[in-house]
Amino acid sequence: MSKITGKDYLNVELYYEQESWIRQLPEEYRKRSEMSAFDRAFLCGLIKKYRPRKMVEAGVAAGTTSAVILNCLGSLELETVCYSIDICENYYRDSSRKSGYVVDEVKDRIKNCDKINHKMLLGKSFPERLEEIGGEIDFLILDTMHRLPGELLDFIAAYPFLSEHAIVVLHDIGLNLLNQNDFYMAPKVVFDTVSADKYLMADVDQLHGLPNIGAFRITKATRDNIGDLFSCMTYSWHYLPDLKLMRAYRRIVEQYYEDRFLSYFDRAWILQREMAENTVLKKKLLKKAWNEYEHILFYGAGKVGSIFYYFARENALKIDGVVVSDLSKVNEFEKSIFDDVPMYEWRDRPYNPDECGILITVGARYHDEIFDIVTREGYKVIG
Ligand SMILES: C[S@@+](CC[C@H](N)C(=O)[O-])C[C@H]1O[C@@H](n2cnc3c(N)ncnc32)[C@H](O)[C@@H]1O
Repeated sequence: MSKITGKDYLNVELYYEQESWIRQLPEEYRKRSEMSAFDRAFLCGLIKKYRPRKMVEAGVAAGTTSAVILNCLGSLELETVCYSIDICENYYRDSSRKSGYVVDEVKDRIKNCDKINHKMLLGKSFPERLEEIGGEIDFLILDTMHRLPGELLDFIAAYPFLSEHAIVVLHDIGLNLLNQNDFYMAPKVVFDTVSADKYLMADVDQLHGLPNIGAFRITKATRDNIGDLFSCMTYSWHYLPDLKLMRAYRRIVEQYYEDRFLSYFDRAWILQREMAENTVLKKKLLKKAWNEYEHILFYGAGKVGSIFYYFARENALKIDGVVVSDLSKVNEFEKSIFDDVPMYEWRDRPYNPDECGILITVGARYHDEIFDIVTREGYKVIG
């Protein structure tokens, strides 16, 4: 019997020239790149080969990798328009610095810097920026959350804005093994699921030669099999993006994908929210957030409210009141659960926005409506 063969991964010529540039930077900047020398050589090799016209980097952090990318574009004398996007205004490891601060501080060392068209977009998430950036992105780097659903939803959102044969680079495809933490699966899930021409090369320095970076080139098969990525939305999520971010992803799916994908997206999202309501992880995070507020109000006295009531009592967490939209609709059973907690209608709530956090304790179906009601008045939602 003949041996089974399969399509092999592609190789790109590694482009290490930027390493001599990065070595000249002060150590304080150098060590801020979250990519290894191999990762940067792989990324720059793809830039050199494909000479992008419109490039997007999602996930900037301090900005050392962004600076390397810009120096690479400048050295190759490319006329690329390059966008660097980060949801955080401030660097996530040191909030006294701006995200991407390294780019500003090493600007005068970047080759042909004045000719490079670079935009640093901070303070809004990747899907919220896509409309403003527009289509025909031919080179995308995803390096954001690493936990599901992070890069999975980022890619689903980005796909309608990519050019026909765009290159997509995924960083940290081995982070689950490097950090020995099975949370970090999102980039690898995208890499393995997408149908495309894939780049994967040996990195002799780690993981027995298996790399922490990969890339793919969009093909016709990517579109034909895009449903496989939606299917991945039912893998277990390790965090729940907040409502604003989920709505930004959803808006793109609604506008650019056929209805069955939107329907799948909605059902997977609601399922994940129901799961999260009960997970230990959520409870741990919730306990921490709970104690950050002077007072806590529950919004909702039904079944979900009772689950959180017992959770609070078991964990010695305060409840300063329960608000509901209409007191006349609270039944005797619900009242009996909250018998040691004052109950108010929302319009008679006892605290101002700066005095309390609100825990939304209604079922997932009503969650968004209540979220809008309370945030419109300036209240913070916990959990
Ligand atoms: C691992 S760091 C990026 C590292 C950087 N690429 C490097 O090589 O140095 C991840 C960054 O992604 C940002 N991020 C996470 N989710 C995001 C989202 N949905 N949109 C934009 N940025 C996001 C975080 O604020 C953080 O700065």
